[in-house]
Amino acid sequence: MTVMIKPFPRRPGSHVDFGAEVLHVDIENLEDKDFDVIHEALYKHQVLLFRGQKHVSPEAQYQLTKRFDPASDTYGHGKDVSSSKNSILHPDLKTIPSVPQVQVIGHGFVKELEGLHNIRLRHPHHRTFHRDAIAEDKDLDFTRFYRWHIDAALYGRYPPKVTTLLAISVPKGRRQTLLYDDGSGDTLDVPLGTTAFVSGESMYERLSDEEKHFVDTSRIEYAPHPYIWMSQCRSFPTGLGLYTEGRELPEEQLPLIEQDKIQILPMVWKNPVTGKRALQIHPSAIRKIHKADGLVIDDLKAVRDIVYKLQRPAISPSYVYAHDWQEGDFVLFHNRGLLHSVVGAFADDEVRIFRQCNLASPVGV
Ligand SMILES: [Fe+2]
Repeated sequence: MTVMIKPFPRRPGSHVDFGAEVLHVDIENLEDKDFDVIHEALYKHQVLLFRGQKHVSPEAQYQLTKRFDPASDTYGHGKDVSSSKNSILHPDLKTIPSVPQVQVIGHGFVKELEGLHNIRLRHPHHRTFHRDAIAEDKDLDFTRFYRWHIDAALYGRYPPKVTTLLAISVPKGRRQTLLYDDGSGDTLDVPLGTTAFVSGESMYERLSDEEKHFVDTSRIEYAPHPYIWMSQCRSFPTGLGLYTEGRELPEEQLPLIEQDKIQILPMVWKNPVTGKRALQIHPSAIRKIHKADGLVIDDLKAVRDIVYKLQRPAISPSYVYAHDWQEGDFVLFHNRGLLHSVVGAFADDEVRIFRQCNLASPVGV
C-alpha cells in the first residue's frame, strides 16, 4: 500500500495548523520511496504521527532520525549528557548502550529494557523547575508546561533537525487541567503526560511588522554550558523562560568555556522545504541579543522580557497541540520549526516508557 498523509483534523476555534498522521508505513522496514514522501510531509506538517510502531528497534529509530541529516551521528546533547551531573538534563535521560544516540525517558521503575537493567525513570515535574509550584494536594488534577524548548545543546553543537519519540508504555485514562498561572486565566485540558507543541511559524506570523523586522535582523547569544548555567534558576509558571534573580552560575563555576563554542544563532529559522519562517528561540538558555546595528543587549532581564513578549501569545491555549499518546505511537517532529514541552505529573505507580532520539547537526541554522 502506498503511504498516505492525513492532516490532523482542525478543532473549532483552534489555531493549530500543523500535524498529520502517516498511514501504511512500517518504520522498521522503510523503503526509499516512502522516506521521500515522509521527508516532504515532515517539513510541510511539522509533526508526523505513525501509529502501531511499538516493535520498532532503537537502531531503526536512530536510522530514520539520521536520514534527515545524514552526516549527523551524535546525540543532540553530545555523548556525555547523562554523565554531566550538574546539568539539569542529567536525571531525565538513560542512554541505550547498543545505540547511544537513543535515550529512554519516562516515569517509574523498569526492570529490563534494551540492555538497561533496574532503571528508575523520572518524568520531569514542574516543581523541580518552576519558582512557584502547584500545591501537593492538587498535583494529580492540575499541571503546567514544564519547560518550552527546542532540543538543542546550544553550545558547541548545532540544533538537531528532527526528533523522534516512541511511546512504549503509556498509563491510561486520566486527564489534567493545565494552568498557565500568569494572570491570564488561561487553562488547557490535556491528556496525562502529553507532549505539547506550538509552531514557530505561527509564533513568527502573528508578530507585528515592527517585531518581524526586529526578529529577522537580530540574533540570540546562548549562555555557555546553558543547562549547567541555568541549573539553579527558576522558571515562570508558563514554562516559557526564567525569572531573573541572580541564580545563574557564574563563569568560574562552569566547566571550561571555549569561546568558539558559544552559539549566536538567528532568531528566525527558515523551513528548508516550504521556505516559511519560524521564530525559534530557546527561552531558558538565552543570554544576549545582538541587534543588526551591532548593539548588544546584555541586561539579562531585558533580554528575557523581550523574548517573553515575542513568544507568549503563541503558546496561548488555541495554539497548542497536546498529543494524546497511545502505546506504539511514533512521533517525528521538526525540531527547527516548533517549540515543545513536557507536561504532566504521574503517580508513583504510573509507569511510562518512551524512547527519544535526536542528533546534533553538523549544519548551522
Ligand atoms: Fe525535548
